[in-house]
Amino acid sequence: MWHAEVARPGDRTGAGGPIAVCGGTGGHRGTLNPFALLNKVREVTDKPIVLAGSLSTGRDIVGALAMADLAYMGTRFIPVRESPASEDHRSALFGATAKDVLLTTALDGFPANFLAPSIEAAGLDLDEVKATPPGQIVDPGRARTRYRKIFSAGQGVGMVNEVRTTAELCDELITQYEEARVAVRERLRGPAVMKAAASRGRPEKESDGEAPGGGRPVFGVDKGRFSVREDFDAPLDQDVIRA
Ligand SMILES: Cc1cc2nc3c(=O)[nH]c(=O)nc-3n(C[C@H](O)[C@H](O)[C@H](O)COP(=O)(O)O)c2cc1C
Repeated sequence: MWHAEVARPGDRTGAGGPIAVCGGTGGHRGTLNPFALLNKVREVTDKPIVLAGSLSTGRDIVGALAMADLAYMGTRFIPVRESPASEDHRSALFGATAKDVLLTTALDGFPANFLAPSIEAAGLDLDEVKATPPGQIVDPGRARTRYRKIFSAGQGVGMVNEVRTTAELCDELITQYEEARVAVRERLRGPAVMKAAASRGRPEKESDGEAPGGGRPVFGVDKGRFSVREDFDAPLDQDVIRA
């Protein structure tokens, strides 16, 4: 599975699982949308899959975990205080957005995401870089000598805007993750319960719905508006989803 478009082995001993390096990822990477990539990777492995590509917030991690087993962040951690990234690299990240990220094979022959302003700042002609077809690279001499001034980032770079310690960033990500987890859990209740309603026929009046397996009503429809009782606290398990 050593293919930038598909996945790369997390552990050559076979103990780990692949990292799905999706489009939008920092560094050398694939081009596929995460849904397209993850569905194909799932077909070829039952090992834990790591998802990488523009993940920047705790909410993104929750989203990634709907598709993969682990989430992998790169760009977001480049400017942390403990990072060995140069001051130039940090500065290039701050203020940059996804629009500044250029996918090109022109620098070393492999598809990679670079910050376009840093390519220009390094003295390369951006138009020439953009026009260089796969299989060719811009003047190797020039590219090589200036490579350390050309910086990579994923499309999530717009969320990278300050220097913090790793612990501070992780605290923020954990808080966002917990908030998103609760919000998603709430959101998923609706469709799950609506599915239950559909299988029993449409509820027409308030408190028509019952908790899966019986019990207190969990939803109602009043004048066409669907609502889930705020105190409904059924576990969001497979049974509820299938109900
Ligand atoms: C500056 C930079 C250098 C990287 N270098 C490597 C590398 O040498 N080997 C590698 O496997 N991945 C490398 N990556 C990719 C990361 O391992 C990771 O997959 C990626 O950063 C995650 O996506 P994100 O940056 O969009 O969060 C690099 C990424 C960046 C941003």
